[in-house]
Amino acid sequence: MTFAVVALALLALVALLPPAHAVKSHDFKTCAQSAFCRRGRALAARAADAGDAWQSPYSLLHDGLDIDSAGSTLRGRVHSALYPHISFSLHVHVLPDGLFRISMDQVDGLRKRYDEAARWALHRDPPLGTAKWSRGERHIIARSTTSEGGEVELHIQYAPLRISLWQDGKETVSLNGRGLLHMEHFRVKEDAPAPVPVPAVDPAPPSGEQAVLEPPAPAQRPTAWFEGAEEDGYWSESFGGHTDSKPKGPESLSLDITFPHAQHVYGIPEHAAPLSLPTTQPPGNAYTEPYRLYNLDVFEYLPDSPMALYGSIPLMHAHSAAGTVAVLFLTGAETWIDVARPERGAGAGMSTHWVTESGILDLFLLPGPSPAALFKQYTALTGPSALPQLFALGYHQCRWNYISSRDVLDVQRRFDDARMPLDVTWLDVEYAEEKKYFVWDKANFPDPRAMLAAVAEPRRKMVAIVDPHLKKTASYFVYTQAQQRDVLIKKSNGQEYEGWCWPGASAYADFFHPDSWAWWRGLFRLGDAKEGEGWTDSTKDLFIWNDMNEPSVFNGPEITMPKDNLHHGGWEHRDVHNINGMLFQKQTALALTEREHPAKRPFVLSRSFYPGSQKYGAVWTGDNGGTWAHMKVGIPMTLTLAVTGMSFAGADVGGFFGNPSPEMLTRWYQLGIFATFFRGHAHIDTKRREPYLLEDPYRSIVRDALELRYAMLPVWYTLMHEASVSGTPPIRPHYVVFPKHEGGFAIDDQFYIGDAMLVKPVTDAGVTETAVYLPEDQVYYSYSDYTLHRGSASGTHITVASPLDTIPLFYRGGHIVPLRLRPRRSSPLMAHDPFTLVVALSTKRTAQGELYLDDGESFAYQQGELVWRQFTATKAGKKGIRIASLDKVPTHPTETVYDVDLSSKYSAQNEYAKSIEDVRVERIVVLGLSAAPSTVHAVSGSAKVALEFKWTKGSHAEGKKNQEGVASVLVVKDPGVGITKDWEIVIE
Ligand code: GLC
Repeated sequence: MTFAVVALALLALVALLPPAHAVKSHDFKTCAQSAFCRRGRALAARAADAGDAWQSPYSLLHDGLDIDSAGSTLRGRVHSALYPHISFSLHVHVLPDGLFRISMDQVDGLRKRYDEAARWALHRDPPLGTAKWSRGERHIIARSTTSEGGEVELHIQYAPLRISLWQDGKETVSLNGRGLLHMEHFRVKEDAPAPVPVPAVDPAPPSGEQAVLEPPAPAQRPTAWFEGAEEDGYWSESFGGHTDSKPKGPESLSLDITFPHAQHVYGIPEHAAPLSLPTTQPPGNAYTEPYRLYNLDVFEYLPDSPMALYGSIPLMHAHSAAGTVAVLFLTGAETWIDVARPERGAGAGMSTHWVTESGILDLFLLPGPSPAALFKQYTALTGPSALPQLFALGYHQCRWNYISSRDVLDVQRRFDDARMPLDVTWLDVEYAEEKKYFVWDKANFPDPRAMLAAVAEPRRKMVAIVDPHLKKTASYFVYTQAQQRDVLIKKSNGQEYEGWCWPGASAYADFFHPDSWAWWRGLFRLGDAKEGEGWTDSTKDLFIWNDMNEPSVFNGPEITMPKDNLHHGGWEHRDVHNINGMLFQKQTALALTEREHPAKRPFVLSRSFYPGSQKYGAVWTGDNGGTWAHMKVGIPMTLTLAVTGMSFAGADVGGFFGNPSPEMLTRWYQLGIFATFFRGHAHIDTKRREPYLLEDPYRSIVRDALELRYAMLPVWYTLMHEASVSGTPPIRPHYVVFPKHEGGFAIDDQFYIGDAMLVKPVTDAGVTETAVYLPEDQVYYSYSDYTLHRGSASGTHITVASPLDTIPLFYRGGHIVPLRLRPRRSSPLMAHDPFTLVVALSTKRTAQGELYLDDGESFAYQQGELVWRQFTATKAGKKGIRIASLDKVPTHPTETVYDVDLSSKYSAQNEYAKSIEDVRVERIVVLGLSAAPSTVHAVSGSAKVALEFKWTKGSHAEGKKNQEGVASVLVVKDPGVGITKDWEIVIE
């Protein structure tokens, strides 16, 4: 054989091998394969070709325009020159804090557009605010203010209709500035349309409204310049052997949203993409497809792609050093979003184009102007994230599947033998007989209650999966009950829908149907369920995983449900697809809340999500691969979730598919401990990889990582509490912590934990050194050895050693971090453990921090049963400091979280506080004091007690900028102060 033949044979062989990781792209539509997306992009292309000659045919009519006497709502009619006989309503609501809500709907159409997305997403009907309105010939202007006093104006131009937000004299958002607004009206299908001669090139767009109204040439569609010459996919559409019957015809909605001053846009999860969203349109676009929001079960998804994944949050932040604004585009339907950074010089902003398949326009403008303000505003709309039970922040060990009770208990024992902490063991689909959830496979789980009791003995919990597909068999009580109640999703012809999933032929409960709610919740009742009626053999220690809730349908179009399926109220699945998964998780979470008296906080993990999902539990990033690229993209994915309200999220540690090397698995644990939801999981075909199976040194390094996670539980719990109060996410990208520091806006491979710690996880093989970016003139202390690093206001890159046993993790100068350093088997066993306070002094010799504690499981905290401490370190004398612990509740507004003013219910002497009166601070570690103290005293009331301390001089020279070295460390052992008490420690 010649060399060429051998080479060819080898190539052929390689081509036959399955790729290491490959999505089946042909299962999922591109924009060009989705008729309404195609129409939307074609509209944008016609507008771009026409340039300045393009003009939106939509205008707001002067006639009938009404602004209510309170100045809260404008009601008007919108007209499109394309279809003079069709009318649209426009409502602008003024909301408090400078927000505006803009809705548009077709009036008296042949059918009704879906208008209930807000009903599911919003926490409550937002209260109305007021604005001062002025009406001119060309514009109406509404003037309002943010709660921080910023001036906000909404400018509404009559013709063409253009709406823009102005803040402190600058336009920050504009709607329909590019003229891409189009609400396709309902029309009558003409069965046999006469063939329309199509011009080879669309007629040039008119230069003004007059031109649009000119009578068209007889053979042309008058709207072709705008809508295109063909009725493209109006009445049916096929993909992958499935036909969508589209009985309602076209009703898509297109809108351009421009952020004239933004440099970056963030948000719109879920995509495996960078945090700062790469552009999808020229110039210089990184992706060619728009971002797609359509909840899908994507097998082996790519680690860098705008393809749709499991959840959808149509919230986008637009950011520059001048400020942050956001839009929430509430639609439950499939949506595509193009993102471009126009070339017209610096400061041209970011332009986006949204096309959604159905529903009204229901758009919220959130003025910010800071990320922190946006979190509050979004939280006020969609609700705070739930405060989980403490155990849910511990480590979760999952696998598809632990195959028997014995297996489960063996896994737990081996964690104990390896001295690795663990809170939750999980059961995937194989626990259920024939995948009939709620029914144990008694061959392998003969006595589930005994197993659950053994699991719970070291105060651990268990999670079992309950998916939304119901095995279609008369012997499955959940299915027959749903059938009897008529709460199953229907086909377009009104018959029960059948799809394929894990159990084979399945039906799907319709959680839009109010009759499904109490029924579903009843299935989780404890104790009194009769065999065949509810979940016998469940206990209060069993929590739930709701997977496959996009929903996943193996034989459906794009692995989901046909869009012409019908839900309660006659709505098509197309209208509600992206909302579907959240309603399932919501009912399950309510079920767990109702099953005990007094109620315990639920834990439900969901794969699919929508705005509001943060109220119901955790999410994870689905079926990632065991590759470095997937490990890496998990960071921007969880940061994006964090900034869009999903505070409780994580990626499968180790990657779902494949067999990670020990090194990769070790690094993945070192990353996973910094996600709020921390779970190891693996596909059924993978090798077992529980961390105790690792050999040393990997095993002990992973143990260290697990112990660090548990040591930091007070930090995570305090941050989850903060998220539940203000919506501020526990993990924070640079632009959130330093909104004015441009060098950090695109950074998504390092992030802050609260604002006190910075981590740069290692996500590559063979790494021994890591570059870290410090964006401020501040000191940072390495977690591992207290090395001191100094950043600068213009941004400083440092390089730190990061061999396998070292995580680049830093205390940020100016912060006090509460830790619990006693290794335990599970988090509830730590309830009475003492605390270590790490005081990382700033360059100004100050620091602050907080600690939130409660019983970790009930709702009693909402009645004031909690401990919430504020710690401060301030200068004392020439070189010393004074560290104080104060009660935070009396000084902190808490209305948002509990919907009541907590301080009126709270007493420092509450029962919970009393129950941990014995809990002390066992150690205070002060980093960065410049001189050895001569005395350390604890002051509590009038008592002053001298304390022992140990001082280690640092090696850095004091006061010199950019000086690196080891920080000085002062350790005050056993200062004799209680965690629930007010006290002061004076170091002089
Ligand atoms: C889905 C889930 C995965 C789970 C599997 C079996 O692929 O994403 O986590 O293990 O279903 O239930």
